[in-house]
Amino acid sequence: MDIIGIGYMGFETPNLEAWREYGPQVMGFGIGKNPESDPESLYFRIDDRRHRFAFHPGTVDRIAYIGWEAVGRMAFEDGIKKLAAANVEYTRGDAKLCEMRGVRELVRFRDPVGYQHELFYGQKWLPRSFQPGRPHSGFLADERGAGHVVLITPDYTPELEDFLLNVMGFSWYGAGAGKGRTGFFRSKLNHHTSHDIAYGHGPGRMGVQHVGLFVRNVRDVGETYDIVRQRELPMMMTLGQHAQDPHLSFYHFNPSGFAFETIAEIEPWQGDPYELNPEKLSLWGHEMVGPILGTSVKTPEEVLDPEYLPIYLAKR
Ligand SMILES: [Fe+2]
Repeated sequence: MDIIGIGYMGFETPNLEAWREYGPQVMGFGIGKNPESDPESLYFRIDDRRHRFAFHPGTVDRIAYIGWEAVGRMAFEDGIKKLAAANVEYTRGDAKLCEMRGVRELVRFRDPVGYQHELFYGQKWLPRSFQPGRPHSGFLADERGAGHVVLITPDYTPELEDFLLNVMGFSWYGAGAGKGRTGFFRSKLNHHTSHDIAYGHGPGRMGVQHVGLFVRNVRDVGETYDIVRQRELPMMMTLGQHAQDPHLSFYHFNPSGFAFETIAEIEPWQGDPYELNPEKLSLWGHEMVGPILGTSVKTPEEVLDPEYLPIYLAKR
């Protein structure tokens, strides 16, 4: 599929009020206007798109959907053909859902793990309309997508890799340097970063491990780090530089219990000269000062929405 990257992500949380303050004041997100049909949720902006992150009221912290951006209408239609050819069940979003997401059209489908995905094109946008919630240089999103996400899967199967490689059309990036089995994947039209999504094997576990966001300036990493420390927010990894990506980043836990990796590019991504097999995760720093899995990682029974859970259990 001709996918640019992650266009948007949606989460459910019982901690909406915490996000309303944390999003702008810690992360520098702008608050977006609610769609008329969804006055309860919280919409965050990180660039000139209408929104990139939606937090919906819910009883448990979980990822509700990942919206993949097809480059345009033709790519979207081709993507649907790919889903149909692979016998992936999908439903078309109605006018109300498209208005909520701020897109022209979308389809919804699940990956073999059970996570909800959407494919869309044409998200609402207005140039030079982004205003951060606090002094901040802004985020590198735009044509490269909103960032990356790492999900935990209870089973890491060939079926999952087949779906990612052959249905979604992602490129394999590598297995990373962490312990355990993780696969990193990049959407077809992403030429800026090494990965858009990764699935890490966590037996019996599901949920978001972290979301990576690219800021425009090293200063934004430093200032976010200072704010996190001043507020004594829980940290996962201190400042450091990964071996396989020329980035400066740190990881801390947000009110939904998964980590944000705040990232500045030190130099451009080197591309895929060969499959990287780093000796260690990071060149320096990234000291583990908290758990690798936050409270957002739970059992499938806790993380999957009640509608889908019986289908998931029947498949196992
Ligand atoms: Fe990351």
